[in-house]
Amino acid sequence: MSTSIASKIVLITGANQGIGFAIAKSLSSKPDYHVLMGSRDAQRGIDAAKKLQEQGLHVEPITIDVTSDESIAKATQQVMNQFGRLDVLINNAGVSLKEDGISGLELRKVYQDTFAVNTFGAALTTESFIPLLKSSPTPRIVFMSTVLSSLTNEQRYPAYLPLYRSSKSALNMLMMHYASTYKDAGWKINASCPGYCATNLNAFAGMDTPDNGALNAVRLATLGEDGETGTFSNKEGVVAW
Ligand SMILES: NC(=O)c1ccc[n+]([C@@H]2O[C@H](COP(=O)([O-])OP(=O)(O)OC[C@H]3O[C@@H](n4cnc5c(N)ncnc54)[C@H](OP(=O)(O)O)[C@@H]3O)[C@@H](O)[C@H]2O)c1
Repeated sequence: MSTSIASKIVLITGANQGIGFAIAKSLSSKPDYHVLMGSRDAQRGIDAAKKLQEQGLHVEPITIDVTSDESIAKATQQVMNQFGRLDVLINNAGVSLKEDGISGLELRKVYQDTFAVNTFGAALTTESFIPLLKSSPTPRIVFMSTVLSSLTNEQRYPAYLPLYRSSKSALNMLMMHYASTYKDAGWKINASCPGYCATNLNAFAGMDTPDNGALNAVRLATLGEDGETGTFSNKEGVVAW
């Protein structure tokens, strides 16, 4: 496997299964994209990358647990040593934990565990990789959100998954913060909802495929100079905040 100097280096967190895996497959099928498939478990990452390597795609596994500062720092150093830059970061790792029928300390723990991955994990991963993104001529960041996070659309799905959706509403604000910070530098930073896709996250109850869930994230990851920044969209178009 060779990585030409012109390759765009992409890191996707949580790419060993589901939508992250589908994004890895799609991006690495494009000319000049080399994908680092993030996995919190090293063996799961190796196994996932092997499936795409066997198809001749330019991917490799990288271990990154977004709840661990040590793991994030180690992954950052690895990318620094191997490539000296990062062109695209896709904050895809996410959890949707059981929320019904819990209270007290257990409820606090589920809040903490949800925000630890979906919100703090994405923020701290982004912070860690910003110096490497600054070395890219065309930095792109995608935050995987959900239409459930939309305050405007709350009544379309009333009283449903308050922990999960609020962790993603906070993620949207973080996305906006980074988009504003790096707007003048030409970075393209956006949030994407994949749609309701059949993955482990929802016990495969979703109606759409992970491949379709990857479409808008891949579009945002490959935006040209005239592409948008600071937006929230799905494959159908703009999503209301
Ligand atoms: N599926 C949907 O319908 C849907 C809808 C809207 C938004 N989303 C969002 O899309 C993203 C991908 O979800 P998915 O549906 O593809 O779910 P998935 O199949 O369950 O994949 C989630 C990925 O995140 C990883 N992950 C979990 N905790 C992590 C941690 N601490 N550090 C690093 N990686 C971690 C998982 O690793 P393990 O394999 O080790 O568990 C897995 O690779 C999530 O952000 C989710 O919120 C999904």
